Amino acid sequence: MTTTTTTVPHVCRVCSGPLTPFLDLGRQPLSDAFRLPDDPAEEFFFHLRVGVCGDCAMVQLLEEVPRDRMFREDYPYRSSGSSVMRAHFTETARRLLATELRGDDAFAVELGCNDGVMLRTVSEAGVRHLGVEPSGGVAELARGKGVRVRTAFFEEDTARDIAATEGRADVVYAANTLCHIPYLDSVFRGLDAVLKPTGAFVFEDPYLGDIVERTSFDQIYDEHFYFFTARSVRALAHRHGFDLVDVERLPVHGGEVRYTLSRTGTRTPSPAVAALLAEEEGTALHDLKTLESFATRVDGVRADLHALLTRLRAEGASVVAYGATAKSATVTNYCGLTPALISRVHDTTPAKQGRLTPGARLPVHPASDFTAPYPDYALLFAWNHAEEIMAKETAFRAAGGKWITYVPEVRVL
Ligand code: SAH
Ligand code: TMP
Ligand code: ZN
Repeated sequence: MTTTTTTVPHVCRVCSGPLTPFLDLGRQPLSDAFRLPDDPAEEFFFHLRVGVCGDCAMVQLLEEVPRDRMFREDYPYRSSGSSVMRAHFTETARRLLATELRGDDAFAVELGCNDGVMLRTVSEAGVRHLGVEPSGGVAELARGKGVRVRTAFFEEDTARDIAATEGRADVVYAANTLCHIPYLDSVFRGLDAVLKPTGAFVFEDPYLGDIVERTSFDQIYDEHFYFFTARSVRALAHRHGFDLVDVERLPVHGGEVRYTLSRTGTRTPSPAVAALLAEEEGTALHDLKTLESFATRVDGVRADLHALLTRLRAEGASVVAYGATAKSATVTNYCGLTPALISRVHDTTPAKQGRLTPGARLPVHPASDFTAPYPDYALLFAWNHAEEIMAKETAFRAAGGKWITYVPEVRVL
C-alpha cells in the first residue's frame, strides 16, 4: 500500500472542531485513474473514511488525496458526456444570464468548468466569462467551444490575480467542484477578492440528505471531500462573511442542492433556506445515530450485491457493468467486485476505453460494443443516468437482458 497521502487528524477541515468517523470504505484507489493493462507503475491507494464535525456539522473525508494526483492533464471525466447534463447546464447558464448577469459588462467566473458544458452558453451570449480548470485536457476541450479558461486551481492567489487582471465578477458558479476542494478557507478568501460587493456565489453538489435517504454510498470517493447540507453550508458561509440566501434541490446526479451565497446583509434569504434547515432538523440528518444507521445500510448493500453477483455467476449467467463512473471505484473496491464477477464495463468515454478500472481492474470497453449477443445482466454503475441510458439501450431489455441496480437497494429490474 502506498502511503504518500496526508493523514488528516480527526479535526474538521473547516472549523477544527472534533470529527467523529462513522463510515469506513476501506482501501481505495484514485477513482479516475484508469490504467493501461501493461502499466507497471504501482497503484496509489488511500483510506476512504467519512466523519461528521461535532461543531459545524460538516460531513467530510478523514484523509485528503493530493490534488495534483487527481486533477491532471489526463483527467478523464467529461461533463458533456450526458445529454441530460448538457440540457441541465444550458438551462443553468440561461438562468444565470437572466438573473446575475443582466448588467452592462457582466462577468461570470466558473470553478471546474471542465469541457465548457455550462460556459459555452454564456460565451455564445457574448457575456464576459472565465473558467478556472486545473485539468489541462478538459480545459482545452472548453477552449475549443469558445470558452475562456485558465488552467489553474481556484484558490486565493488565483482569485486575486483574476480580480486584478479581469475585474470582479457578478457571479461565481461551481457545479460538482466545491465539494472536491478541501482548502475552503483559501477558496473563500478568493471569493471575497473576486466577487463584486453584491455578487453571488452559486454552487451545486451531491446532497447528503439524498445520499443518506438513498444509501448512495458511491457518492463517496477521493474527489468528493465534503458532503454538504444547508446547515453545514450556512455555518461555512458565516465563517467567511457570507449568508446562505437560497437553496434549490436538483434531480441530477442522484440528488443535489444548489446553494446561493452572498455577502452578509446584501440579500434577503428565501424561505427555502429555513425550510431545508427545518427538514434536516426533522430527519436528524447530522445526528451520529442517523449516520451510523446509514453506514449499517451501506454494509448491507455490499453483502447483497456481492451475494447476488456470486449467485448469478454460479448459475452461469454473464454479467457486465455499464458506466465506468468515478463512483464505481468505491463500489467495486468496497464490495469486492472482481473480473470473475463482472467481465467488463461499457462506457462512452474514449479516455477510459481500453483501460482497467482503478483498483478492481475491470476492463473498460466502448459503450458501442454493448450489442447483441447481449450479456444476461448489466450492473448499472451510472445509475444517476438511468433514464438516459435505458432509453438508449432498449434493445438489451428486448433481448431478455436485465439491469441490476444497488441504489437505493440491490434489485434486478
Ligand atoms: N462542473 C463540471 C465538472 C465537475 S468535475 C460538472 O459539473 O460536470 C470537477 C472538476 O473540478 C474537474 O474538472 C476538476 O479538474 C475541477 N477542479 C478540481 N479542483 C479545482 C479547483 N481548486 N478549482 C477549480 N476547479 C477544480
Ligand atoms: P458520472 O456519473 O460521474 O456523470 O459518470 C458517468 C459515466 O458514465 C461516464 O464515464 C460516462 C458514462 N456514460 C455512458 O457510458 N453512457 C451514457 O449514456 C452516459 C450518460 C454516461
Ligand atoms: Zn467543523
